[in-house]
Amino acid sequence: MTERAPRTAAPWWRHAAIYQIYVRSFADGNGDGVGDLAGARDRLPYLRELGVDALWFTPWYVSPMADGGYDVADYRDIDPVFGTLAEAESLITEAHAQGLRVIVDLVPNHCSDRHPWFREALAGGPQAPARDRFWFMPGRGAHGELPPNDWQSYFGGPAWTRVVEADGTPGDWYLHMFAPQQPDLNWEHPAVRAEFEDILHFWLRRGVDGFRIDVAHGLAKKPGLPDVGPAPDPTDLPYQDVDDVHEVYRSWRKILDAYDGERTFVGEVWLPTAEQFARYLRPDELHSAFNFEILCAPWDARVLREVVERTLAAHAPVGAPPTWVLANHDTIRHVTRYGREDTSFDMSDKRLLDPSDTGLGRRRARAAALLTLALPGGVYVYQGDELGLPEVQDLPDELLQDPTFTRSGGTDRGRDGCRVPLPWTAEGPSLGFSPAGAAATPWLPQPADWDGLAVAAQQDDPDSVLNLYRTALSLRRTRLTRLPETLTWTESAADVLSFTRQDGFHCLTNLSPTPQPLPRDTEVVLASGPLEEDAEGRVTVPGDTTVWSWERGATS
Ligand code: NOJ
Repeated sequence: MTERAPRTAAPWWRHAAIYQIYVRSFADGNGDGVGDLAGARDRLPYLRELGVDALWFTPWYVSPMADGGYDVADYRDIDPVFGTLAEAESLITEAHAQGLRVIVDLVPNHCSDRHPWFREALAGGPQAPARDRFWFMPGRGAHGELPPNDWQSYFGGPAWTRVVEADGTPGDWYLHMFAPQQPDLNWEHPAVRAEFEDILHFWLRRGVDGFRIDVAHGLAKKPGLPDVGPAPDPTDLPYQDVDDVHEVYRSWRKILDAYDGERTFVGEVWLPTAEQFARYLRPDELHSAFNFEILCAPWDARVLREVVERTLAAHAPVGAPPTWVLANHDTIRHVTRYGREDTSFDMSDKRLLDPSDTGLGRRRARAAALLTLALPGGVYVYQGDELGLPEVQDLPDELLQDPTFTRSGGTDRGRDGCRVPLPWTAEGPSLGFSPAGAAATPWLPQPADWDGLAVAAQQDDPDSVLNLYRTALSLRRTRLTRLPETLTWTESAADVLSFTRQDGFHCLTNLSPTPQPLPRDTEVVLASGPLEEDAEGRVTVPGDTTVWSWERGATS
């Protein structure tokens, strides 16, 4: 590999900037209007220049795409809409050659209803042993007409679907915590465990540097699958954070550690308490997990400081690096979130139509980017964050593809608004998402005014969001990632976040309307927006702005 970050004692995943590629919306190489591996391979130089350390690819496997690829029919091959296995192998090699690590998405909680195991389970009839790899159960009620328990799918509606047997009679029900096309796997079954261990080896042998584990908190279910009941305790649900799940990660960790290089697991762990979350990060389990607290927090200095403190305190006892996430393919783009009256995020109520002042939102998003990039630990950049893209809130109903839209009866407009294909050029029918002359249009339409947000439009503008990210990522790599994973808060006015790290680094985010003085005796190296001067000619930091400064004379 070339151009690796400077050597530090800590493994790369402790301080990596990881770029999330939602493959179908990143870049279309073959002109069918859907992003693919060819498109991603073409853009590797862009990603290297951006300055991230690793790429996380959302599922690229064979899939009927009932949930954007999180319904996997073959974990060892690539969906033809994205390319071929040979292309994935080339992509991994080429990314490495550009100094970029590769993380693939592993989806172990459920597979697709088109997966051979589930087809076999359906075809085999009620007594088929193939059904034991899933959760098939008889229904309740006199004729089995009611679901086996009261669990609700995360996508809305019951978490059970009743099958129709070969002779046309209604049969048992199967569990799916997400869409009906995503049957949950039974992790008590040894074949399920063996299969996923083999899948890990399959991709490790192909050189991947790590795995993002989908729904990492959900694999194990409480014995007997008891009802949740009318007043559930969110810290003790029968379908998440059941202790047996930790045994799975302990066995996976042994597999990973037997490979050379610094390979890593990052868990998607959504749990109500920091203590529950941290248990996944014990030294013999996952290396890190997405910390969604900042993503859910409002733009409020007190709350953000609490989030940072709570996060550092939760990770310290298990020795895991914290991570910082502002957005991903399931949430609302933070340019839009920060421009609303209520700047928090709630997965169960995304308030997708709430109005937003995206000018204000983008200013805050720039400040939030510098804040999170300054914190110790790892950081995630969701594709398009670096362009300042907003959520697309006016996609026509008939184009929405996310199953949450239909499953919720239209009350949740789903996650398509953060998945609109990226704009690369300021002209052309797909703004460069597809190659010139492509017959197909992008799978979701891009807003007309995204020409101004395209990579080409931002490339040479020193004040663009893109160049802010490039400069910040470069400074972070050369000056911050080697520092100890600690910070010290410094005294500041209300509604201001101000901290130092070693080597004389200061980060100040002003969330108050009053301009703030620069940290004393420091030199500004980067600011998320224009700075001002007070009556005495001293530089000040206006509201919704973050500034990075170093003590005068600090070594670089
Ligand atoms: C989390 C993924 O990020 C999301 O996109 C998906 O719908 C669910 N897991 C189910 O796999």
